[in-house]
This record gives sequence, structure tokens and C-alpha cells, in this order.
Amino acid sequence: MKEYVIATNNKHKVEEIQHVLGDKVNIITLRDLGCKDEIPEDQDTLEGNARQKARYIWDKFQKNCFADDTGLEVDALGGRPGVYSARYAGERCSFDDNIDLLLEEMGGKTNRNARFRTVICLIEEGKEFFFEGKCEGTITTERYGKKGFGYDPVFMPKGYGESFAEMSLDEKNKISHRGLATQKLIKHLLK
Ligand code: IMP
Repeated sequence: MKEYVIATNNKHKVEEIQHVLGDKVNIITLRDLGCKDEIPEDQDTLEGNARQKARYIWDKFQKNCFADDTGLEVDALGGRPGVYSARYAGERCSFDDNIDLLLEEMGGKTNRNARFRTVICLIEEGKEFFFEGKCEGTITTERYGKKGFGYDPVFMPKGYGESFAEMSLDEKNKISHRGLATQKLIKHLLK
């Protein structure tokens, strides 16, 4: 079975990705590798960050690996928070802090269109491949649902009457940015 290192210790992400990959590919985490490094992620694009994280693993361990980076791009905010989605409300802020700031900044805005965008960088034998997934939707005016993480309670995917935080992991994965990018990655891995 093929084995790949996923350049994250975020358990939500490992859970979601392993859920989509099933038993087709064996995923190893940084923890499994005994790697406790704080991997740098200081580029100003999603592509740049995904590549930086995957390169770090490849350079250090020479193991096939992939890394992703995701941002929430809100049209009325000129694409913010985008690549800065995790730290939108400041360093060490919580998911709740980010949502509070987003709802505040979106107060009174009529254009509530937004998208989640994920970029995955895969490194196989030193060679780079990029996969992108997008999910269009709108920012709600209040929180709905308790599932998921991050901005899920305030993101309603286009064509659906519930937020990501009201959907099962299965439902979310079928239409989500990371689910779609991961499907492209899987297609490549199974080639
Ligand atoms: P990351 O690059 O996957 O770590 O994502 C950066 C930030 O975007 C996270 O800290 C979350 O706030 C947000 N985010 C990423 N993916 C999702 C998602 O599927 N739902 C809600 N928020 C997300």
C-alpha cells in the first residue's frame, strides 16, 4: 500500500482526509514520524504555504507527502481573510473569535458571497503537484449548527439550506473545498 505523510497535526483535517481516502492509501501523521517541529507557513498565498509545508517534510525525511492550505475568501471583504483565515482575529485567536470578527465586519453587508478554497501540494519522489478545490457559498448572519470546525457555523454552501456545521462529515466532504481537492489528489494517487 502506498504511504504518504500528511504535513499536519490538526486532527480534524487528518480525520476528514482519511475519511475520504478510506483504505486506499495509508496516511502517516507528523506525530507518527516523531516530528514535533513547528513547520513554517509564512507565505502570502495558499499555494505558497502548501508548498512550503510539503517541501519541509520532503527535505527533512525524503518521504512522499502532501500538505494543504485553506482560506475563506469573502467578496465583500476583498477576499479576506483568505490566506490569513486561521489568524484573522489575531495570533492565538479561537475559532469563535474569528467568527465574531467576521460577523462584525459583515454587519450590514448585502453581498455575502464567499468561498472556501483549498490547495494541496503533493511531493512524490521530489516532484511537485498541485490540486485545488473550491466551495462557493454565503456568510450567514448568525451561527448555525455545532459540527465541524473553524467558520463552519457561518458558512452556507450554495444550493443548501444548512451550514457546514449542520451537515454530517459525509455530506460536507462531498461538496467541500478540501473534499474536492482531496478527490483530485486521490485520482492522481490511484493513477
Ligand atoms: P488550514 O489551512 O486548513 O489550517 O485552514 C486555515 C483556517 O481556515 C482554519 O484555521 C479555519 O479557521 C479555516 N478553515 C479551513 N478549513 C475549514 C473548513 O472546512 N471549515 C471551516 N473553516 C475552515
